[in-house]
This record gives sequence, C-alpha cells and structure tokens, in this order.
Amino acid sequence: MSSTAGTGRFTERVAVVTGGASGAGSSICREFAAQGATVVVADLNISAATALAKELGTNHVHAIAVDITDSSSVSALAAQVTQQCGRSADILINNAGVRIVKSLLDHTDDDWEKMININLTGHFYCTRAFAPAMIERGWGRIINIASIASFVGRPDRVAYCAAKAGTLGLTRAAAIDLRHSGITVNAIAPGSIATPLNAQAKNDNNVDWGGETLVGRWGQGNDIAKAAAYLASDDASYVNGTTLTVDGGWVSAKARDGEIGSS
Ligand SMILES: NC(=O)c1ccc[n+]([C@@H]2O[C@H](COP(=O)([O-])OP(=O)(O)OC[C@H]3O[C@@H](n4cnc5c(N)ncnc54)[C@H](O)[C@@H]3O)[C@@H](O)[C@H]2O)c1
Repeated sequence: MSSTAGTGRFTERVAVVTGGASGAGSSICREFAAQGATVVVADLNISAATALAKELGTNHVHAIAVDITDSSSVSALAAQVTQQCGRSADILINNAGVRIVKSLLDHTDDDWEKMININLTGHFYCTRAFAPAMIERGWGRIINIASIASFVGRPDRVAYCAAKAGTLGLTRAAAIDLRHSGITVNAIAPGSIATPLNAQAKNDNNVDWGGETLVGRWGQGNDIAKAAAYLASDDASYVNGTTLTVDGGWVSAKARDGEIGSS
C-alpha cells in the first residue's frame, strides 16, 4: 500500500471512485479519504481530479485519468491503480455519469449512445476490470450510482432513464455472478443532489426540487457519500444486489399538492 493513509474503517482499503473529480463523486472521495482509505479519483477531467488529490493529500489520494466508455482506458486504470497504490481496488464506486435533457424526438444517435455508454456500459467495463482481483482476495465492494430515474420516468430524459434503469439490472445480475467471492454489488439511487449536474435547476426560482421531498431540502453530495461508506463497510456484509434510495423520500411520497400539509 502506498502510503500514509489515516485511521478509520477503510484504512486497509483502496477505493476507486469514477467521476470522482466533481459533485457526488468528490464528496465520496472526501468521505473515504477521511475514513482512512487510499482513494483513486478516476476521472476524464484529470486537472480537476489532480486538484482534488492535491487538496486531500497526494500521499493517499491519487488522480488517474480514465474514459470509462473505452475498455482499454479502463484496463489501463486497473493496472495504474495497482502500480500507484501497491494493491488493486477493494472498493469500486461506479459514479461517473452525465445527463442529456431533451425530448425523445430530439435525441440523436450520438445522444443515445453517449447516455448508454457513460451511464451503463462504463460501469460494466469497470466492474469487469476490477472484479478479478477482488475475487482473488475474497473481499470486494462494488457500488453503482443509479438514480430516481431508475424507477420512474422523467421528462426529456429518455436515454438517461433507460441507462439508469439498466444500472439496477447490472447491479442485480453482477451480484449473482460474483456470489461466493466475498463481493457485494449494490446501487445507490440519489434524488435531487446539489451538484454541477443540477446547477441550472438549483438556481431557478421557479423550481423547488428540494421542497418536493419529505425532508424539505436538496440532497448534498455528502448524503450520497455516507450511504456509499455504509455499503462499503463490513456493517453491510449481508446487503447484496439491492438499491439504497437516497432521495429525501421523493420516490416514496408521490403526494399531490394539498394532500400533505407543510407541517
Ligand atoms: N446530481 C443529482 O441530482 C443526481 C441524481 C441522481 C443520480 N445522479 C448520478 O450521480 C452521479 C454523479 O453525478 P453528479 O451530479 O455528481 O455529476 P457531476 O457532473 O458533478 O460529475 C460527474 C463526473 O463524471 C465525470 N465523467 C463524465 N464522463 C466520464 C467518462 N466518460 N469517464 C470518466 N469520468 C467521466 C465528469 O468529468 C465529472 O467529474 C452520476 O452517475 C449521476 O447520474 C446524480
């Protein structure tokens, strides 16, 4: 292990976070680093990843460039993790994702492919690249970041919803194939999280996505990071093939105006 990782429940663990340079991914990197993991910020945006690694302490936080839609880039990432951290990943968080918002008829072939490749195929490539070393070690945690769009249709997001629904299928089937190897595969379905992905809605006074939840606020990256830390821990060893929804109750509520009061 490279390092001077701190103390905490992940001290002996290497955690790879795809899309770790921004938003929820950066919160996940911060949380795992704070809990002692050696963290790999794996991102297309290497300058942002490097800046985060520098901020968190390059002794135990590494920035590595990857395009998760390119299987050879993902294979190179797996090799670099072992080289730089002295150990392959114990924990993989498939977090990188993008969202195109436009009507079904306006989705181009490229839009569709981009949504499926980044939000679904990339998670498969990473899972396939990192699982063998976890199998060999007899312990592993794979966490796929899904969405409330995995469960419900959302307007102008046909490819995103299709990819995110696919993430849950990938999660369940991967959990079966990796059974008996000490690996669990789970998903987190975030609701409205205040990240750069949602900057427009967050700054729009006509939109109150936080107020639509039962908790009455926007989610923060840290809400996702805490859920990821739980699923990656030994406390969650009996949790497998399932989805933890972290949305302030939005999917469960589905109340109409007037059905529930404000207090
Ligand atoms: N923000 C929300 O409200 C919300 C809600 C539900 C689900 N999610 C999901 O959470 C995850 C993180 O979202 P966020 O809001 O933090 O997004 P973000 O835009 O802040 O960060 C996404 C990161 O992914 C990286 N990335 C994009 N394409 C990549 C590629 N091909 N290879 C490697 N890295 C790549 C980007 O460089 C960026 O650093 C995504 O999977 C998103 O779909 C977010």
